[in-house]
Amino acid sequence: MTEQKATYIQWHHGAITRADRERLNGHLSFTIWFTGLPSSGKSTLAVALEEVLFERGFHTFILDGDNVRHGLNKNLGFSPEERTENIRRIGEVAKLFRDAGIINMTAFISPYRHDRQTARELSNDKSFIEAFVDCPIEVCEQRDPKGAYKKAREGIIKDFTGVNAPYEAPEDPEIHLHTDKMSVKECVQIIMDYLIKNKFIPE
Ligand code: ADX
Repeated sequence: MTEQKATYIQWHHGAITRADRERLNGHLSFTIWFTGLPSSGKSTLAVALEEVLFERGFHTFILDGDNVRHGLNKNLGFSPEERTENIRRIGEVAKLFRDAGIINMTAFISPYRHDRQTARELSNDKSFIEAFVDCPIEVCEQRDPKGAYKKAREGIIKDFTGVNAPYEAPEDPEIHLHTDKMSVKECVQIIMDYLIKNKFIPE
């Protein structure tokens, strides 16, 4: 738990609720929380899923690790404490997007189970959907679009997830995708099927 530092603060309720915004948008708001090793396919899937949802007229937004680390989280590195703070902030931002009535996808390694659980607990309904982007490290390492695994093996990048920093796989994710065996299109279809079956979006 992060300590509350500010005092003399109090919650102000707006006149417009999340339910009002969802009604205006014509759909529910929720978070698809992609988690997985570097180069497992999180960002690729978030982008492909967003295209399909957007085409259907839904209001969407992607929070991507590489992008957010250019701005909001540019002061954070990759120590365990900084990764925890990275995910804490993104959990809060994802909640803000849900409150704003928007379907949001997050694409962060988010290697620690405890941190993902903290992000999940900010949702008091079922609107936090964990999607495990599962891919053997050998395959991720072959993809290596940024050459980061190579640099980690050479000792240039320290504490690189999967090489010399841990990744704690989800034990009971809502969605489990095997990106070494399934195409992007198949993975997106699995997510869409989940969303329809669980009534997050209509048929
Ligand atoms: S997280 O662990 O805090 O969730 P996040 O998803 O924000 O990580 O950032 C991952 C991105 O940072 C990847 O694109 C990766 O290439 C880059 N990166 C740089 N250094 C590291 C590192 N030590 N471990 C993991 N990713 C790293």
